[in-house]
Amino acid sequence: MPRYAYVNGRYVPHREAAVHIEDRGYQFADGVYEVVTVKDGRLVDATAHMDRLARSLDELQIAWPVSRPVMEMIMAEMIRRNGLTDGLVYMQITRGVAPRNHAFPDAGVRPALVMTTKKMNFAKMTKFTDGVSVITAPDQRWTRRDIKTISLLPNCLNKQKAAEAGCYEAWQVDPHDGTVTEGTASNAWIITEAGELVTRPATHRILNGVTRLTILKIAEEEGLPFVERAFTVEEAMKAKEAFISSATSFVTPVIAIDGRPIGDGKVGPICRRLLAGYNEYAAGLRAGGAEWPDEIPADEPAAPEAA
Ligand SMILES: Cc1ncc(COP(=O)(O)O)c(C=O)c1O
Repeated sequence: MPRYAYVNGRYVPHREAAVHIEDRGYQFADGVYEVVTVKDGRLVDATAHMDRLARSLDELQIAWPVSRPVMEMIMAEMIRRNGLTDGLVYMQITRGVAPRNHAFPDAGVRPALVMTTKKMNFAKMTKFTDGVSVITAPDQRWTRRDIKTISLLPNCLNKQKAAEAGCYEAWQVDPHDGTVTEGTASNAWIITEAGELVTRPATHRILNGVTRLTILKIAEEEGLPFVERAFTVEEAMKAKEAFISSATSFVTPVIAIDGRPIGDGKVGPICRRLLAGYNEYAAGLRAGGAEWPDEIPADEPAAPEAA
């Protein structure tokens, strides 16, 4: 089956898909993106992802390239054309094509839209059953991490460090206070000795993961105690369990941080329970979807100093 990409109004064979060299995404990383999982042929949390896309566009004053309902139609058509049952839809919107100049181009320049899909076999992924290891690395990003921009160089550098260490992900650490912000492409969670689920609150310092919001909802439904606060690397090392979340990681257990085992170094019961809950949710067996909070606070109270 041929693989199709969508590029500015046309469905084209993936290998022929191309954008202009003066696309501001290519020149300045001046754009935003979303990744929506497709599981058993269904888009998971599509509304929440589209809401976050709307927010990212708004924050950067980029207009919709097409209306939101048309975007949703294109997503559906891409799933159909690519015969996608398990995998992801990637969509990227940039400010458009214009002669290179840092300031925004004239109002007449249309934002550019690219969409691709990728097949994945979630059922065969051993990360869910065996867990993964992470390293810690300094967070070198800008101060508006709540916007899902395509400017991902610091994330790439830390992910590469993780890959070189034979690890799946890097937990990025605020150099000022030693707290974990998030992964390079995921949110970070721990479960304390007392059994409390901890993840950082959604401020400008992290991307408010759609999966993160869904997991908070599942924890509430399951009666699992949780708190949104920052935690240090030291606290994470002493945690009973840990995991990462993202659209394609769901709940992926973390069994070691910087080579030190978390808990007994095996996938724990709370991770298993949350993953089972998430799989039910993605399969449409649980009600509702994640809801975008009305306002993201600009900052959060200072986190405790690292020991
Ligand atoms: C930096 C970062 N944090 C968190 C996430 C998780 O977000 P979501 O659950 O919406 O996939 C991502 C996903 O790409 C990410 O890039």
